[in-house]
Amino acid sequence: MTAVAPPSEKDLEAHFERTIERDQRVEPRDWVPDGYRKTMIRQIAQHAHSEIIGMQPEGNWITRAPSLRRKAILLAKVQDEAGHGLYLYSAAATLGADRADLTDKLITGRQKYSSIFNYPTLSFADVGVIGWLVDGAAICNQVPLCRSSYGPYARSMIRICKEESFHQRQGFELLMTMMRGTGGQREMVQEAVDRWWWPSLMMFGPPDADSPNTAQSMAWKVKRHTNDELRQRFVDMSVPQAAALGVTLPDPELRWNPDRGHHDFGAIDWAEFKEILKGNGPCNAQRIEHRRRAHDDGAWVREAAAAHASKKGEK
Ligand SMILES: [Fe+2]
Ligand SMILES: [Fe+2]
Repeated sequence: MTAVAPPSEKDLEAHFERTIERDQRVEPRDWVPDGYRKTMIRQIAQHAHSEIIGMQPEGNWITRAPSLRRKAILLAKVQDEAGHGLYLYSAAATLGADRADLTDKLITGRQKYSSIFNYPTLSFADVGVIGWLVDGAAICNQVPLCRSSYGPYARSMIRICKEESFHQRQGFELLMTMMRGTGGQREMVQEAVDRWWWPSLMMFGPPDADSPNTAQSMAWKVKRHTNDELRQRFVDMSVPQAAALGVTLPDPELRWNPDRGHHDFGAIDWAEFKEILKGNGPCNAQRIEHRRRAHDDGAWVREAAAAHASKKGEK
């Protein structure tokens, strides 16, 4: 028998490049450049953390939902977000990331989550507005990720997007119901829209000129559109929806531009975005503290599972 020489690093790299070029998926068994692995782990972990931290703002209203129906819908939605987190932590694990290590990085502030979840939920209308705008923005971001070059991430995104569209619809339906209700309810919706509109636009990340990783992520087909392209798509999508609801988007500069075929909109307050990323948003400390407490409270479950696994191993 003749021994077959293992492929050289150059062969592996060429294979990786070809996979990307042909729009095929990179799978866990495949060799990938270190930079690709690091970028994917960072992106997937940040996404997973966002799903898990994102349970808190709305979770705040589960015990105070105005009816059994609204409570059941909200409960289902928040549980979906937990599921999204779990798929994504599993996808990160296929790249060699360790779940416990990712959790540790989240609660010690070494990895980020979406800045949107550092805003408070002040009324039940926030549940509707989060579904409509925040889950709506998440869909704009995530639909193109169903074609991301990393297979496990792309596949988890397909199921997540289906559930996100339910989230968006339940939010819109709640707002529509409130808008058909009393004057007080309509005011509550408008007030919530005023607070969430600008932070929703920030969900797409810094402007392209200020987003140093975008070019590499696009080349690796990890990302399919730039932050500004996705933000524009979201604005164009939201304007007719706001009109259907009968709410005003809080931007006096927002108007249709026939030359561009898009809506123009006002300047985003990037200073506020940066402050929140630095940890100085209204709820940063509270969100992390809550997550840390939940992690500590779950220590006995992890210990019991480990003891059970080692007993089974002995047998
Ligand atoms: Fe989600
Ligand atoms: Fe969602």
